[in-house]
Amino acid sequence: MSTYQVGYFVGSLSSTSINRVLSRALIRLAPKNLEFTELTIGNLPLYSPDHDTRYPPAPQALKDAIAASDAVLFVTPEYNRSIPGALKNAIDWASRPWGQNSFDHMPAAVIGASPGAIGTAVGQQSLRAVLSFCNARQMTAPEAYITATPGLFSTGGEVNDDSTASFLGDFMQEFGDHIERVLTVLPRS
Ligand code: FNR
Repeated sequence: MSTYQVGYFVGSLSSTSINRVLSRALIRLAPKNLEFTELTIGNLPLYSPDHDTRYPPAPQALKDAIAASDAVLFVTPEYNRSIPGALKNAIDWASRPWGQNSFDHMPAAVIGASPGAIGTAVGQQSLRAVLSFCNARQMTAPEAYITATPGLFSTGGEVNDDSTASFLGDFMQEFGDHIERVLTVLPRS
């Protein structure tokens, strides 16, 4: 079985982020052949095409980290029925300069948690539209809209509900299968 490097984005900059806790849970429940590295977004300046000829160190480090990944995972809240600006800014940096889009053919999956009943569903659709334009190879199913009720997760990422743990474990298994399928057809150079 091949080992795959998964770079993951946490869309929230909150020190108490439930999506960061969710990312810990996903890593705990993932198949052992997936290895995880966070793709940091909180240190990025705002994107401007003025930088396209010479990327600053932090955005260049982001692009290098994505290039070192076999797949990307987005774990994000929904902000105003879309995605947080910090995450969109990171995607914009990674998608440029023109012709050097870091997401081209990249296996990708999207998941998110909110306290609300629809569990980031609308935000995820917004993110999927962005990733489609970036030509990422998205896992279309299963979808995962997590309603984060009090006590569902411990801060270390333990899941205190068996059916949720089973669902998240299946999601990560499917993501592992998706990565293998995509890379079989579209190996990373
Ligand atoms: C929110 N929240 C929110 N929730 C939701 O279900 N749909 C939404 O559109 C929004 N919009 C929104 C905008 C802004 C600016 C904030 C700060 C919050 C609530 C959000 O789901 C909640 O704060 C989560 O806890 C955010 O995730 P993290 O930061 O805890 O990972």
